[in-house]
Amino acid sequence: MILKSILDPGDEVLVLVPYFAEYQFYIANHGGRMVPVETGAAFLPDVERIAEAITPRTRALILNTPNNPTGRVYPEGVLRDLDEMLKRAGQPITVISDEPYKSFVYDGGRQPEVASCIANTAICNSWSKSLGLPGERIGYLALSPRLAGAADLRRACAFCNRTLGFINAPAIWQWVMLESMDEAIDAVPYEHRRNVLCDALEAIGYEVRRPEGSFYIFLKTPIPDDIAFTRRLAEEGVLAVPGTGFGRSGYIRLSLTIPLEKIEGSIGGFRRAFLSSRGDNRG
Ligand SMILES: Cc1ncc(COP(=O)(O)O)c(C=O)c1O
Repeated sequence: MILKSILDPGDEVLVLVPYFAEYQFYIANHGGRMVPVETGAAFLPDVERIAEAITPRTRALILNTPNNPTGRVYPEGVLRDLDEMLKRAGQPITVISDEPYKSFVYDGGRQPEVASCIANTAICNSWSKSLGLPGERIGYLALSPRLAGAADLRRACAFCNRTLGFINAPAIWQWVMLESMDEAIDAVPYEHRRNVLCDALEAIGYEVRRPEGSFYIFLKTPIPDDIAFTRRLAEEGVLAVPGTGFGRSGYIRLSLTIPLEKIEGSIGGFRRAFLSSRGDNRG
């Protein structure tokens, strides 16, 4: 709805690499052009690079924190720096804050409110993750009152909702969700699975960046070809997603949504795949 409302054909939307692969299709669906912008070394937004990518056609920047696939939680300072830069950009750029993993932050941390840090924010949220309702497609769009032209945009979104052809959640469930706004499933088991898998991968010799949030590990592959390494893991019965699909080769994405026993059962496969990439077939 937000993309349909703000884009004219050929308008540009900035996304940060690596990105949730579906963004390119959401943007293309509404005539837009995805402009990928590299993140910094630790997958955090690089404010200077984002500023350099802005053109007169730039309409929006999609932010996703906690991030799929990297698990990074963007700190408040980075969000405020982005806000400063966007205010100097000389044209209205809407920050679309895609927040389905907001309740998945580990080690006692929390995700700073993007809309508090960045004035021009539209929040897109879904209960797929926080209430474990994938496939139900129940969520909401919320426009910050500080967003330029918020009232007009709200009317445009309401109308676009009527033209897009999807079926809204039944009214009764919309009332149920209102009552459940702040409910979230327990993230502690995910944190435990993260610890078990990261500890095991580190012990094997993988270069691991422990995710601070979401429920993915974005793991550097021991060989540059992430697709070949994904195939090697599949031979071991381990299903990973190549980083190439997220715009960053040399990595794979692992998910923490499976039972702990399955994660523990996968460790031998990770070890054998790592050793064979080193030409060592002992396993
Ligand atoms: C970053 C991100 N945004 C949006 C979605 C879509 O959520 P939903 O399935 O509720 O439409 C997902 C789902 O995987 C996601 O990871």
